Amino acid sequence: MSAAGAFITGLPKAELHIHLEGSLEPELMFEIARRNKIAIPFKSVNEVRAAYRFSRLQDFLDIYYRGADVLRHEQDFYDLTRAYLARAAADGVCHVEAFFDPQAHTARGVPFAVVIDGILAALKEAASDGMTSRLIMCFLRHLDEDDAFATFKAAEPYFGCIAGVGLDSSERGHPPSKFRRVFAAAGAAGLKRVAHAGEEGPPEYVWEALDVLKIDRIDHGNRALEDPKLVARIKAEEITLTVCPLSNLKLCVVGDMADHPIKNMLNQGLRATVNSDDPAYFGGYIADNYAAVAGLVTEADMAELARNSFRGSFLDAAATAKHLAAIDSYSA
Ligand code: HPA
Ligand code: ZN
Repeated sequence: MSAAGAFITGLPKAELHIHLEGSLEPELMFEIARRNKIAIPFKSVNEVRAAYRFSRLQDFLDIYYRGADVLRHEQDFYDLTRAYLARAAADGVCHVEAFFDPQAHTARGVPFAVVIDGILAALKEAASDGMTSRLIMCFLRHLDEDDAFATFKAAEPYFGCIAGVGLDSSERGHPPSKFRRVFAAAGAAGLKRVAHAGEEGPPEYVWEALDVLKIDRIDHGNRALEDPKLVARIKAEEITLTVCPLSNLKLCVVGDMADHPIKNMLNQGLRATVNSDDPAYFGGYIADNYAAVAGLVTEADMAELARNSFRGSFLDAAATAKHLAAIDSYSA
């Protein structure tokens, strides 16, 4: 491992933007498909990987939902989550706030409880190895708000285990304001709120996520940089951006990693973090994402990105302070 690689792996960090379904590696996809007796339209793991060429978000989503189709039983969701957590721990992640997409499964007849029970069992097991976690339930924005509300209701018995709600899937044409009522209900229920905004969508979607959905954190947020007033707002309110460099490259949000805005975000005083988004599809886990921007930022910047991941987490002040102190002694 290079010196930069060793520094990155050893740096204590939180991951705040990871879709569990997006961590489904082709090997596990094949294994689960075999045991569930599901035919998949690929002959080999290499053929699957070769299909992962995207020119925009929707190209990826089409294949992501197809991959998720193999997940049917509690064991499948458990295995998926366990594999991600083991991989993240190997990259120096000690706290994770993970997304899941219940509607991608309930729409196929998989009960909500099957999905979340498998995920929670894996999170609980990882806790005994020292990995803390929060779970964030995302609504699919290409579906209507009534569908989101049905999911919200199905989740009610689990609110003690769900830290917050999120908003993902096809951004263009689906503004955050479409989900005004269900996000208000989530807030009233004491849940945190986050939303993908400004990945492909315009700065107006970021404004809406802040003003209408009252979000606590912005997922991606790249296009916020187009609007200086928005940048000033995000800075003044210390709102965290969960940035995903390899995702941005693979989905053509940036044309070249050399043009990635991560350093610009730090220079403007924004609380940017580095995350993997859908690591099985975008070519890397969190350490690979730090490494992808290593040519753009210093080691001190990387330590600051890691500090931001805890500052922007939903951990309490005492746990956050403990992780910040660990970074200080690591990078001193
Ligand atoms: N963007 C939007 N929706 C998603 C993503 C993403 O990167 N991954 C899974 N759902
Ligand atoms: Zn995402």
